[in-house]
Amino acid sequence: MKVLLVNGGAHPKGCTNRALEEVEKALKEEEIETLIYHIPNVPLQDCIACGTCAKIGKCVFDDCVNEFVEMAKEADGFIFGTPVYYAHPTGKVQSFMDRIFYSGKAAFVHKPAATISSSRRAGSVTSMDVLNKYFSISQMPIVSSMYWNEVHGNTVEEVEQDKEGLDTMYALGKNMAWMLKCIEAGKKAGIDIPQNTKRNTNFIR
Ligand SMILES: Cc1cc2nc3c(=O)[nH]c(=O)nc-3n(C[C@H](O)[C@H](O)[C@H](O)COP(=O)(O)O)c2cc1C
Repeated sequence: MKVLLVNGGAHPKGCTNRALEEVEKALKEEEIETLIYHIPNVPLQDCIACGTCAKIGKCVFDDCVNEFVEMAKEADGFIFGTPVYYAHPTGKVQSFMDRIFYSGKAAFVHKPAATISSSRRAGSVTSMDVLNKYFSISQMPIVSSMYWNEVHGNTVEEVEQDKEGLDTMYALGKNMAWMLKCIEAGKKAGIDIPQNTKRNTNFIR
């Protein structure tokens, strides 16, 4: 079983990464394979709503989005991490998630996920609310921890002092491992993934 942990911040070795490492530690202890993926620090194309992905099965802009969706097909769970910028997730992670979910949703459906955030002081829960919505519209079980999934600090050294935040990350990793093992055990016991394909269109279309 494999979990992809996404760093949606600017710093590959910053506070968000430190939080993800603590989740990763717990996952590895449970023998879950992991990969921390830093969304590249290049100008990231926003979704232009062209609809090409529905025709060709991938985003028309062939960048890290298509690369990540291919990796996501092989993954069993996801952690998306973001620093807080002006009380919201980074623009980069939102553009990235708009495009991976719009062009590659099938790679995520019914797989458990969680959001984590790092901030100096405020805006964590509002940021997590934004990212959790990608999961709840995609039939993905949202994994929780013992407290809100946030660490605080402007530097890794400061995050290191946020013992409660790091404990929360560690527990999140353990809970993700437990959820993955339950899903695996369910499959072996013959519990199939629901086939929820029927959805009436609304009055507009
Ligand atoms: C543009 C910008 C806006 C920020 N806005 C907030 C904010 O609203 N609330 C907050 O607590 N920290 C804010 N911060 C601080 C970062 O969230 C914090 O330093 C975070 O831990 C950095 O994570 P990183 O090292 O992974 O990049 C902001 C930082 C930047 C660069």
